Amino acid sequence: MNATFALLPGDGIGPEIVAQARLVLETVARSYGHVFTFTDHLVGGIAIDETGDPLPASTLEACRAADAILLGAVGGPRWSDPSAKTRPEAGLLRLRSELGLYANLRPVVTHDQLIDASPLRPEIVRGTDILFVRELTSGIYFGPSHESDDGTVVSDGMQYSIPEIERIIRVAGDAARRRSGKVTSVDKANVLAVSRLWRTTADRIMAEEYPELEFETQLVDAMAMHLLSRPRDFDVVVTGNLFGDILSDEASMLPGSLGLLPSASLGDNPPGLYEPIHGSAPDIAGTGRANPLATISSAAMALRHSLDLDAEADAVDRAVGQVLDDGTRTSDIARGGPAVTTAEMGAAVAAAIT
Ligand code: IPM
Ligand code: MG
Repeated sequence: MNATFALLPGDGIGPEIVAQARLVLETVARSYGHVFTFTDHLVGGIAIDETGDPLPASTLEACRAADAILLGAVGGPRWSDPSAKTRPEAGLLRLRSELGLYANLRPVVTHDQLIDASPLRPEIVRGTDILFVRELTSGIYFGPSHESDDGTVVSDGMQYSIPEIERIIRVAGDAARRRSGKVTSVDKANVLAVSRLWRTTADRIMAEEYPELEFETQLVDAMAMHLLSRPRDFDVVVTGNLFGDILSDEASMLPGSLGLLPSASLGDNPPGLYEPIHGSAPDIAGTGRANPLATISSAAMALRHSLDLDAEADAVDRAVGQVLDDGTRTSDIARGGPAVTTAEMGAAVAAAIT
């Protein structure tokens, strides 16, 4: 097949990790007889530096025209001045919103080979296999903001509409049907009105449309604890934008590193956006220490969800498992042992594609 990938390397370690995911995709194309075309576009801080806009119109246009978008990371101390007119993150949020990518899938799976990389005890984390479904284009990230005239009081509003909640609950229900059949919806319904709407809507959709699935609700504070004490009890976890952001970073400690976790952001129409859940890690940018596996696994999700290339996606996932079996480790998962560079890890995965 012919497919186009819009590459948005962004800031910090972004360019280094996207380069390795591209190498793996090129290897897949060669091995399976596809023609993948890659184009590079500006997003985030580097886009502010070069154009004044964290999401230039040319980038958005190229994304709309692509079959899939692969993004590295945005942000860094260079652009974190609180009084700055625009921030790198605003470009990413606008991209998600403009493309209607409301469903963010964040799988968290522990690899047996890395069980010691987790700060948690092996008997707790072994066998964890959770799919976080994070609502991505609404909630407090996109609610109304206000600032008092004298600037001493500021507010960000959390809001959800019933249709927004219904569609994300359906994404979770559909995913659970293909998995172990359990959905956990996370909210703060004991305090927030918006969470009470979330809860009644989730209860209704699950009862009416997914009666065969196991369904429970959890308060977000308790969920933060359960994730660390009994992660194996969860299958699909669905929640709003902010809670999903926080819980997915927390959950990255189950497999042991933020550098392992991929994500897919999908809407009702193509293209999908694929990105690691970690940030731009400016502290290690340019040192060759970044772990490209989260971005490589995100590329695998692109093959699966945007191109329908399941065999090819499986091949990438297998190759990642293979290099971990072989003991290849970047420094974030090496536990002080020998570590390879970002490029060596990418080359090892590419070489393991069969
Ligand atoms: C994520 C990131 C982003 C978010 C930032 C970079 C805007 O933390 O994808 O989880 O908060 O959604
Ligand atoms: Mg985050």
